[in-house]
Amino acid sequence: MRAITVDQPGGPEVLQLDEVADPVPGPGELLVEVVAAGVNRADLQQRIGVYPPPPGASGIIGLECSGRIAAVGGEVDGWQVGDPCVALLAGGGYAERVAVPAGQVVRPPDGIDLVTAGGLLEVAATVVSNADLVGLDDGETFLVHGGAGGIGSFAIQYAKQLGATVIATAGSPKKLDHCRALGADLAVSYRDDWSAAIADFTGRGVDVILDNMGAKYLDANTAALAPDGRLVIIGLQGGSRAELDLGRLLSRRCSVTATSLRGRPVEQKAAIVARVADTVWPMYAAGRIRAAPETRFGLADAAQAHSRLESGENVGKILLLP
Ligand SMILES: NC(=O)c1ccc[n+]([C@@H]2O[C@H](COP(=O)([O-])OP(=O)(O)OC[C@H]3O[C@@H](n4cnc5c(N)ncnc54)[C@H](OP(=O)(O)O)[C@@H]3O)[C@@H](O)[C@H]2O)c1
Repeated sequence: MRAITVDQPGGPEVLQLDEVADPVPGPGELLVEVVAAGVNRADLQQRIGVYPPPPGASGIIGLECSGRIAAVGGEVDGWQVGDPCVALLAGGGYAERVAVPAGQVVRPPDGIDLVTAGGLLEVAATVVSNADLVGLDDGETFLVHGGAGGIGSFAIQYAKQLGATVIATAGSPKKLDHCRALGADLAVSYRDDWSAAIADFTGRGVDVILDNMGAKYLDANTAALAPDGRLVIIGLQGGSRAELDLGRLLSRRCSVTATSLRGRPVEQKAAIVARVADTVWPMYAAGRIRAAPETRFGLADAAQAHSRLESGENVGKILLLP
């Protein structure tokens, strides 16, 4: 099959279209003929060599896809060759076919075309699992940094569905408009004094923060929390080491958590995927959540897709179509 491979870590140009052996589904696995593969920020880090695949995972980049079942491994029920599906992957998405544990495969949401569906699962699984973890609730205030990215575009809409007041940060007027159009109650530039704008808006701080920046924002994020506030860090775009003022957490009963979806055991991923299908897919089907705008590239143009994501110009999601 054709797949994107990387000989040496480096810039987008190291992504090469190659001929590689077809994956073979083992017991408990499904083989998916890929229709669209989502491009995620983590893929850029894998390409430059700082985010290796977990043990046992495919070395091919790509954390999610949509497609059709091409073969059913032993001990798998409920799927037939040709069924449309979407899959959460530990790797292997930038290819014509990928083998994946059956628990990480679900039907696409009703009424969503199969290409668009290829970019929905990774962000939904990340946001829903973290919202569950910190118990984001109706009536709370929720801040997402990077509201116009893949994660942010979904997080804004999902938090609104839960009944939260939503604040988003973004880097340009166009992206701030995008956050507002998705339902953000306040959209504020991360190039300005976002802490002050958020303090003014809430009066008491933010209940839950979903953070992509890590170290760079740790101090400002913990200062922005309301009493009993929860900061959950899912990205380290601003580094991994910083000083944490524990007194600030203690006096206001706040918590800081960090999570990663990719390295979770298969059973945890299966439970998260099932929860997304139960809770989020009906929201897409009913039009209560909209898929982020998409930019589509052919598989052979994976390098262009990475350049586009790196440029900061893209709004929403990027998809590769084998
Ligand atoms: N832990 C997990 O399980 C998990 C899973 C998925 C993703 N993630 C992480 O979540 C983050 C978003 O992923 P994605 O796929 O949505 O990537 P993406 O579409 O490339 O979005 C990246 C976002 O970072 C924002 N950003 C850049 N500089 C910023 C700053 N100084 N302050 C605040 N925001 C800033 C960008 O905002 P502008 O575009 O407005 O400049 C953009 O919205 C990444 O860090 C990724 O690694 C983690």
